[in-house]
Amino acid sequence: MTTETTKQAEATAVEVFSNTDPLHLIDVDYVRLYVGNAKQSAFYYAYAFGFQVSQIDDLTTGNRMEASYLLTQGNIRLMLTTGLSADHPAQRHVNMFGDGVKDIAFTVFDAEKAYKRALDNGAVSAYEPYTVGDENGKVTRAGIKTYGEVIHTFVSRTGCFGLPELKQGGIVFPGFEMLEHPLNQFNLDNPCGLKFLDHCVGNVALGGMDKAVEWYENVLEFSMFKHFDDDDISTEYSALMSKVMSSGGGLIKFPINEPAEGKRKSQIQEYLDWHSDTPGVQHMAFRTDDAIHSIGELRRRGVNFLRLPDTYYELVWDRVGDIEEEKKLIQELGILVDRDDQGYLLQLFTRPVQDRPTLFFEIICRRGSQSFGKGNFKALFEALELEQERRGNF
Ligand SMILES: [Fe+2]
Repeated sequence: MTTETTKQAEATAVEVFSNTDPLHLIDVDYVRLYVGNAKQSAFYYAYAFGFQVSQIDDLTTGNRMEASYLLTQGNIRLMLTTGLSADHPAQRHVNMFGDGVKDIAFTVFDAEKAYKRALDNGAVSAYEPYTVGDENGKVTRAGIKTYGEVIHTFVSRTGCFGLPELKQGGIVFPGFEMLEHPLNQFNLDNPCGLKFLDHCVGNVALGGMDKAVEWYENVLEFSMFKHFDDDDISTEYSALMSKVMSSGGGLIKFPINEPAEGKRKSQIQEYLDWHSDTPGVQHMAFRTDDAIHSIGELRRRGVNFLRLPDTYYELVWDRVGDIEEEKKLIQELGILVDRDDQGYLLQLFTRPVQDRPTLFFEIICRRGSQSFGKGNFKALFEALELEQERRGNF
């Protein structure tokens, strides 16, 4: 086949695919956080987590409503947005919840078709489709509501705003401009190695988990992620239940937690208490290929990780067996390890990244394992209970 016919075949394949499956998710386009002060948050995420502060849309670029900073690392795109007036939705969001995740956006072939299909599947609109751009390229966006006040935006891109262009450093949306930031060179010289969003966890109220699970099943046509520990994980210590939803193409997983009765207050209930009794994103997990490097670098930068009791390492190797990494380094860095029938994983959780005990992050490195570290739950929840006690929320 000539190059031309190959291209045509590809184009036709894309066309057919997009026509037959409008909800095929190509990528996580961006994750938007509403924050109280985007300029300062950009500095925090750049310094603490090694993001490039790449692009800006604010008063200086002609946006009189809000200020947004695009931060990038690997294939992760964080959009930090602050409202510039009291009645901007971001300001209300920050009043209610503190800083937190508003929008997990997906790149699709055709945002309008994806949106229509989602509405047909029972979704409630967050906002109607609209297109911006010119003859050089266009972006179409439309949004639907998921749990709490979180939304999913569908994004389709053409021309200079295409996804490949974006990944190469192209402008994310019309109106944005490239930004020189004092930390960008430092971060290029000292990479943290975060690659992409592995999963994004939602906390919902008691009785809300199955509803949220059904929503992902029906609206976005996700399926329940089956793995060896997919039973409810309610234990004396955990006092939560969780089910994991997976996108069709396996792009991303959405575990959903709800509180359960335990001896003491569930960590999910603590989140809800400080989140205006409203479901929301509890944590996002960033994937790395090298946990020792990434967590070492993040610790060096002052990221505040949960500390597990030293007794954790007296037992963990019996449970996990041999791993590629040097065990002494794993223990020094306080990294958690778990194994399932497919392999093992390394993971670690930050403390909340704002003063409310709400959003935090996870760093995860998978060596075959596709699960979520069930074996660490007991040790982890004991550590979390200590934290809750320190905050007077037990
Ligand atoms: Fe996680």
